[in-house]
Amino acid sequence: MSIFARRVATFGTTVFTEINALAQQYNALNLGQGKPDFDTPPDIVAHLAQAAQDGQYNQYAPGSGTASLRQAIVDHSARFYGLDIDPVKGVVVTSGATEGIFAAILGLVDPGDEVIVIEPFYDSYVPNILMANAVPVCVPLHPPTWTLDPAELQAAFTSKTRALILNTPQNPSGRVFTMQELSMIAELCIEHDVTVIADEVYEHLLFDSAQHIPIATLPDMFARTVTVSSAGKLFSATGWKIGWVSGHPDLVDGVGRAHQFITFAVHHPSQEAIAYALNLPGTYYQSFQSMYATKRQLMLDALAAGGLKCLAPQGTYFVMADYTDVFDGTPLEFTRYLVKEIGVACIPPETFYSQEHASIGYGYARFAFCKSDALLAQVKERMATFRP
Ligand SMILES: Cc1ncc(COP(=O)(O)O)c(C=O)c1O
Repeated sequence: MSIFARRVATFGTTVFTEINALAQQYNALNLGQGKPDFDTPPDIVAHLAQAAQDGQYNQYAPGSGTASLRQAIVDHSARFYGLDIDPVKGVVVTSGATEGIFAAILGLVDPGDEVIVIEPFYDSYVPNILMANAVPVCVPLHPPTWTLDPAELQAAFTSKTRALILNTPQNPSGRVFTMQELSMIAELCIEHDVTVIADEVYEHLLFDSAQHIPIATLPDMFARTVTVSSAGKLFSATGWKIGWVSGHPDLVDGVGRAHQFITFAVHHPSQEAIAYALNLPGTYYQSFQSMYATKRQLMLDALAAGGLKCLAPQGTYFVMADYTDVFDGTPLEFTRYLVKEIGVACIPPETFYSQEHASIGYGYARFAFCKSDALLAQVKERMATFRP
């Protein structure tokens, strides 16, 4: 008999662990994990330090989050999207979006229910669904445009479908779903009485004319959507693990019931600092976007220097690059080659796919550009040596 419980027996060590170790061994520039290599803005850090020194915030926070952070979250949703969310019953603060997604699945999906996930996906979705004894049903985005086939999506809905996880802006493809795509998804969810778990952690990471449309703002969708977001990306504070789930009180109630027995409450001083940060004026949000516009350009230049093709990301700090013009082999072989011979680390996409659809990601690798401009310029120099 296996020493592990069946629910975790199929979970191996993630490819991130292997790539990080290889990157270290070969002193590679690491564009693997989506983790900024620059610091949180100093005024936000100062608020955290002040909260920790204040003496009021070092014990358990309220289970659903501090009143000031919950108010800041609903004010942010009203300011950017015109959403009217109840700060008491419509928000739960979680340990990052990762816990928010898990609590949403545990709180809103029954064993045996089917949950639709769009691939390539953030790697916690499927293990979360399996740990809830539910069944993942995967629908792929098709490269090079990373779009859904409406017939494939429609065919994924059955009488057992309970929820659909929607991530926009989308990691790893960099897609931002359009109103037309969202309307198609919404119509199917309404027709089949399905709840949407909307993962919007990159909601402010947008390029060019891309516009983030929360699916909760579409007609008749607020009552069937929980929206998950996070301070990690927006304030370059991934280590603080402050996330939240918001939406209709009836759905958020289910999420809160699970959350209270996962973490109960999350880091208290960070919540004070993130309440301050979410209330920052529009200039913060604009400068955040222009900082990333520069980084995206540096990334695109580096990929072009190496002869890799891609759809320029419309959002997020990730890009899926097609290496097939310059390398013949599997994504894992490409990634290992790039680390060892060129000194640049990226992630092979197997981890973002079900086995059934893994071949769709063949020929691609994911690069994260949440890195200093100087490092991205160095990546370009190294990638230029790759051209055959
Ligand atoms: C799509 C997506 N959802 C959720 C998360 C997790 O966010 P957090 O760090 O707040 O748990 C990430 C982090 O990379 C992500 O890319």
